[in-house]
Amino acid sequence: MSTFSTGILSLRGVGVALCDRHHVEGIRLVIFGRSATREGIRLHSREDFAGMRTAGAVAAEILDDLCDAVRPGVSTGEIDDLTRTMIEERGAKSATIGYRGYEHASCISVNHVVCHGIPGRKRLEDGDILNIDVTVVVDGWYGDSSRMYVAGTANRRAKRLMDVTHDALMLAIGQIMPGNTFGDIGAAIQHHAESHRMSVVREFCGHGLGREFHLPPNVVHFGRPGTGPTLIEGMFFTVEPMINLGKPGTKILQDNWTAVTRDRSLSAQYEHSVGVTENGCEIFTLSSADRFHPTNWRRDDA
Ligand code: MF3
Ligand code: CO
Ligand code: CO
Repeated sequence: MSTFSTGILSLRGVGVALCDRHHVEGIRLVIFGRSATREGIRLHSREDFAGMRTAGAVAAEILDDLCDAVRPGVSTGEIDDLTRTMIEERGAKSATIGYRGYEHASCISVNHVVCHGIPGRKRLEDGDILNIDVTVVVDGWYGDSSRMYVAGTANRRAKRLMDVTHDALMLAIGQIMPGNTFGDIGAAIQHHAESHRMSVVREFCGHGLGREFHLPPNVVHFGRPGTGPTLIEGMFFTVEPMINLGKPGTKILQDNWTAVTRDRSLSAQYEHSVGVTENGCEIFTLSSADRFHPTNWRRDDA
């Protein structure tokens, strides 16, 4: 995700004027040949959707296959090695290797790690919950997704946190349609998390993407309905809420990457890459095996 930067946050309240698009007798006209909004949010074509669909499917497939690798005793470095191999096998490229000096094909964030956990020697223990975040590049298009996994069996609170975080993301995605705003996305997440007495991380946000990894806008995971830029068909971005069981505060460790909760409470995250369509959105990173949320522990419960 992008680090929250106040510079770009001036996106509030300056939606694209309605006159940029017209609905005339059911025929949608994109006029003036605009390819970006005044906030710098790119508007993509039908063919661009096809590119994102392929990249998103590759990211999802890799995250699906990783389910079988997550178990107590495995190190996060081993999971990353496997991820790297899976990306190569599919003829894709890792977007994170070499990104701002980052050297790994995944971020693996265990328990109280909020995001950007660096894979390494740490071995998973029974009951650990972890987010694995993978971004691939296929034919120049970026597919960015992350989801939660469990080593062994998670406890009740951890399961509840993962459920609430997953549902917050999917409720937010339900808000994505032309005419709604980015504020509607953030508000849906914040309302769901806080109504379960959990908290939304403020320092990291989703981002536009496409032929680049991180583009405008900052997609923040809190806010007020109806605020922020208006959603327009052809926008591509991620939604990737991080929800904490305790307080929202985070800090960055000495390695300058790893973000953890200040109060060491558990944190969870789910991420999809989406594109705004005529009447809703397309989720590019859907799990065809239906493994996005139903993790190992779901099977234990059944
Ligand atoms: N995939 C992350 C995101 O959701 C970004 C990871 S950048 C890295 O935007 F360098 F830490 F890998
Ligand atoms: Co992202
Ligand atoms: Co990501």
